[in-house]
Amino acid sequence: PNRESQTELLRDDAAGITRAAALLQAGELVAIPTETVYGLAADARNGAAVARIYAAKGRPQFNPLIVHVPDVEAARRIAVLPPDAEALADAFWPGPLTLLAPLREDSGIAGLVTAGLPSVALRVPGHPLAQAVLAASGAPLAAPSANLSGRVSPTTAAHVLDGLDGRIAAVLDGGSCPVGLESTIIGWDTTGEAVLLRPGGLPRIAIDAALGRPLRRADPGTGDKPTAPGQLTSHYATAAALRLDVIDPEENETYIAFGAPGPLTLSATGDLPEAAAALFDRLREADRLGRPIAVAPIPDKGLGEAINDRLRRAAAPR
Ligand code: TXA
Ligand code: MG
Repeated sequence: PNRESQTELLRDDAAGITRAAALLQAGELVAIPTETVYGLAADARNGAAVARIYAAKGRPQFNPLIVHVPDVEAARRIAVLPPDAEALADAFWPGPLTLLAPLREDSGIAGLVTAGLPSVALRVPGHPLAQAVLAASGAPLAAPSANLSGRVSPTTAAHVLDGLDGRIAAVLDGGSCPVGLESTIIGWDTTGEAVLLRPGGLPRIAIDAALGRPLRRADPGTGDKPTAPGQLTSHYATAAALRLDVIDPEENETYIAFGAPGPLTLSATGDLPEAAAALFDRLREADRLGRPIAVAPIPDKGLGEAINDRLRRAAAPR
């Protein structure tokens, strides 16, 4: 790798965690592993640091950021959790779940984090390194996925450097992210009922069970929409053209298989968690070959819903 740039590659030991925390306290950007994907972290109270996130990613200003906190108490100091949010936090934090909640006036969170919205997206990550950095820095950490805007999310430190080498202070190397898909995001409709804003690493069926009723998906085109700028049509994009639900690929296409072996398979056995963890890796590998990409059908159940959501966005016209 090119180490002439100033991006430090930090090891997952005490010295690496201390260095990551010191950089964050100084207003620098550090990519950290979470159980979902690598996040590009900054102190969420420091507006200048948060602004550097948008600059490093080349991200549109209106797209707000998730704030990562060590526990539910820290979340409550930033926002007022609706009753169902408390129940979901209790069931699934720490973990791959993000909850929207109205900001407190004295939250201390920089306005840029929520892009001026009255609600903030909060998550308690379960990854031990993310928790260690939160504890060592003592800061709530605003962190989008650590990739250039519109590109696939990184699940290894090498992926982070692919896009951001020289643009950020450091990356803390925690190996591969175990879930491999971004968190599931839950918001609230005008009656206070939970709505699914983004399918992700926590499957809907688990949420239905915790709520005691089926979770409604936010309906784009209704009042739900302005709360979900993450639903930009083209967000997760490959450079190459991408076709979905392909059983019989063309000769010029790179094929990403599912439920069958192959040089590029999401899961030879058809295992959805394995496919989720492999998804962004396989997309990158396929993209490197420079030919159009065709992906096998993925069942729309369990984590398949989030996988298909990411694939549809990656395939959207742009
Ligand atoms: O797993 C994840 O969620 C990763 C890791 C690093 O935590 N983060 C992540 O962040 O995927 P990002 O920025 O790539 O996606 C966050 C999504 C965006 O689509 C954004 O629009 C939405 O959350 N979001 C954030 N704050 C929001 C808010 N206040 N209201 C509505 N949507 C919000
Ligand atoms: Mg992202």
